[in-house]
Amino acid sequence: MLVVDNLKKDYNGFQAVQGISFELEPGDVFAFIGSNGAGKTTTIRMIATLLEPSSGTASLFGVDVTKDPMAIRRMLGYMPDFFGLYDDVKVWEYLDFFATIYEVPPRERRKVIDNVLELTDLSSKRDAFVQSLSRGMQQRLCLARCLVHDPKLLLLDEPASGLDPRARSELKELILELGRMGKIVIVSSHILPELEGFCNKVGIVERGQLLSFGPTSDLTRSSGTTKHLVISTLGSPEGTLAWLTSQPNLTEARLNKDGNIECSLEGDDAAQAQLLKSLVEANLPIRTFADRRIDLEDVFFQVTTGAVN
Ligand SMILES: Nc1ncnc2c1ncn2[C@@H]1O[C@H](COP(=O)(O)OP(=O)(O)O)[C@@H](O)[C@H]1O
Ligand SMILES: [Mg+2]
Repeated sequence: MLVVDNLKKDYNGFQAVQGISFELEPGDVFAFIGSNGAGKTTTIRMIATLLEPSSGTASLFGVDVTKDPMAIRRMLGYMPDFFGLYDDVKVWEYLDFFATIYEVPPRERRKVIDNVLELTDLSSKRDAFVQSLSRGMQQRLCLARCLVHDPKLLLLDEPASGLDPRARSELKELILELGRMGKIVIVSSHILPELEGFCNKVGIVERGQLLSFGPTSDLTRSSGTTKHLVISTLGSPEGTLAWLTSQPNLTEARLNKDGNIECSLEGDDAAQAQLLKSLVEANLPIRTFADRRIDLEDVFFQVTTGAVN
């Protein structure tokens, strides 16, 4: 289990991370989302024992990152946002080097390398030179390198940046597999659609603060207090939209690209039922009235603009 408790980082008086707390369990794939400069890398580097927190703690399976950094390092794999690979080195040599650094016993190294190559779908590139690989493959090789010591926690800082859609989808499968293997995976991004479908937990960080944290399913569907709705009408969508905009507790009513109305209602199930009743009573020819699944991008904008809690 990873417990991050009120972690803070000051850079000469500038508070880059202002008290971030969250907990993750084995198997959790956590999307750590925020704009550039929000504090993602700083947070990740503190968990990775590379940066000393100004205050607060982080512990992995009971081991505090500042008290026993070496024990933490043995349990984690860290992929920085800008990674360098070595030239004139073959894929297997590169992994062998890291397996050696991580003190994988010599007679186990071959098997470990085979395993991580298979997991990252690079078995056919075993004897290729690192610089001959595509960017997506290099990214997977970098991840393979983080896996040679079978870490319990993976910190992947913007791993999908610069990847084409196919490489991104392969990376996504790999990350989901790591979650299924029972690892804790933290994946950061400032590009929201990149992480759609990656994660079972989401955290949104802005200006050093974690504005929202929880299971993806809770954030992306209607909650007890906020209903996200999509409404279609046989009549004029603009007319219905105008009617809706005048309703209390209704936020962000707009037409979507299909000509249907999307809106959010501050209220419970009874309020939702009441809204439907009022629509019908207003003689608006409502065809459908349904809960709308929202995506991470919606969540991000709602959270960061404070429209929805
Ligand atoms: N070494 C540093 N010294 C001073 N300020 C820094 C340093 N590293 C990061 N910052 C500042 O801290 C804030 C958070 O940065 P960072 O953690 O890199 O954000 P993110 O990874 O979310 O883009 C930014 O405002 C950044 O300019
Ligand atoms: Mg960063």
